[in-house]
Amino acid sequence: ANGIGEVRPHVNRLSYSGKTILAPMVRVGTLPMRLLALEFGADIVYSEELIDWKLLRSFRRVNEVLGTIDFVDETDGTIVFRTCAREREQVVLQMGTSDPQRALKAGKLVENDVAGIDINMGCPKEFSVKGGMGVALMADLAKAKNILRTLVNGLRCPVTCKVRVLSDIDATVAVCQSLAETGISAIGVHGRTRDERPQHSNRNHYIKAVAKALSIPVIANGGSKEIECFEDIGKFCTETGCSSVMIARAAEWNVSIFRRNGRLPLDEVIKKYLVLSVDFDNNGSNTKYCVQNMLRELQETPRGKLFLEAQTLEQICAIWDLGDYCRKRQLEFKASGLLGRREVCP
Ligand code: FNR
Repeated sequence: ANGIGEVRPHVNRLSYSGKTILAPMVRVGTLPMRLLALEFGADIVYSEELIDWKLLRSFRRVNEVLGTIDFVDETDGTIVFRTCAREREQVVLQMGTSDPQRALKAGKLVENDVAGIDINMGCPKEFSVKGGMGVALMADLAKAKNILRTLVNGLRCPVTCKVRVLSDIDATVAVCQSLAETGISAIGVHGRTRDERPQHSNRNHYIKAVAKALSIPVIANGGSKEIECFEDIGKFCTETGCSSVMIARAAEWNVSIFRRNGRLPLDEVIKKYLVLSVDFDNNGSNTKYCVQNMLRELQETPRGKLFLEAQTLEQICAIWDLGDYCRKRQLEFKASGLLGRREVCP
């Protein structure tokens, strides 16, 4: 037995002060991206939002070939959440939920494999709001607090939530104070209201007012438009009066933003990302989506066009001279018997 998947106590309870954090991002925050963020210096990495009932429909499987722990959908065999020992003390699983008991059950399923659990209270998408999840919870404070209290009392790992600001600054502070009463370990605050889009400026002074009023760590979020280098992260901290910062888009575009010594050229980042995608048998369409979000306008270049035509992980890798590496590893995985689902990219 090599100990993969063994349940061991955490070395330290995760602290949320003075941390640089990879924000939760649907489809972007899968294992290869989280590991790369950690390699570049992020202190904590959030998973993409995972809906409670999807977690509850999955079973835990130790993957000896990849050295991972997989939560596998029992209906179609897809990987709902893949994690590994390297990130165990630093990964926070973000959950979408509208129900305390369902959230607790899902939390129990993963609590020994993650460093913390976060509840999404900021998502404005119709799917979330209609289901009473995401930002809908900010309009139902009693339920939001019930969920948090249930998790704080029932789980062994720290519990946090991520919110958006309200249009009134005092109401924002009051809601955050009220949520903090549940015993959560920290609160992430995105400085835009539910109706504001990424192009709107971030209400940094709202975050500052929350940080001033609360005794738990407040994690500032929403600053990516102004974050182009590592120093900008410090500026965002100062402007928001927070010691911790959570970065989404600036990391989605170039995850080496977490490097103290400066960002790396995009090609270098993509190569590292592809190696991790191969090593952890990441699904090809997810890898393609993430690389596409890194390339952005570079998709118009000859290489970018070649990339858009690529249909498999191996074809994507070949564009960055990693085709042979990909094929070799995939054959090894196949020979070991534990084959991930391999599908064609859209
Ligand atoms: C997001 N965001 C987000 N938020 C969240 O709580 N759970 C999620 O799953 C997602 N998914 C997601 C996907 C993508 C592609 C983006 C760009 C954003 C919101 C994100 O965490 C963050 O709050 C905002 O992007 C603002 O921070 P930045 O981008 O200014 O650093």
